[in-house]
Amino acid sequence: MEITKALHTDHMELKKLLRTITSSEEADEITSAFEEFAALLKKHARAEEKVVYEKLVGQSDEEVQQDGYEGYTEHMLADTLLAKLKEGADPLSPEWQAEAKVMKEILEHHIKEEEDAIFSDVRETFEMSERKEMGEQFEELKDEIPA
Ligand SMILES: [Fe+2]
Ligand SMILES: [Fe+2]
Repeated sequence: MEITKALHTDHMELKKLLRTITSSEEADEITSAFEEFAALLKKHARAEEKVVYEKLVGQSDEEVQQDGYEGYTEHMLADTLLAKLKEGADPLSPEWQAEAKVMKEILEHHIKEEEDAIFSDVRETFEMSERKEMGEQFEELKDEIPA
């Protein structure tokens, strides 16, 4: 699958899970959606860094480099918040739900930026054949990265 298509598929799933996490009133439903979300986010982010960001920060165009560094920075924020959410015991508590809501806001912003800026950088920088190869690498890496 072409890389931006593969990334978009995960983005839709991550957004769906975040909606469940922040709107469900059932603790069990939130917990299972959160476990799925945490695993997918980790796999997606690490594979995306390796297959996409690493290549963008190596380009000569400084705007493209900066988009890549911006992505790394937003991943770092999401990782911090994810670790905090993993520590929380009660997914229905106001504290946990507040953190989950901020995670949803950060990720929705991050995904929008990726789909606008990063996707166009990728399309302008790499030929379709390379983008398909990047998509294969992305899926393989996701399988290898522990949840
Ligand atoms: Fe992404
Ligand atoms: Fe990302």
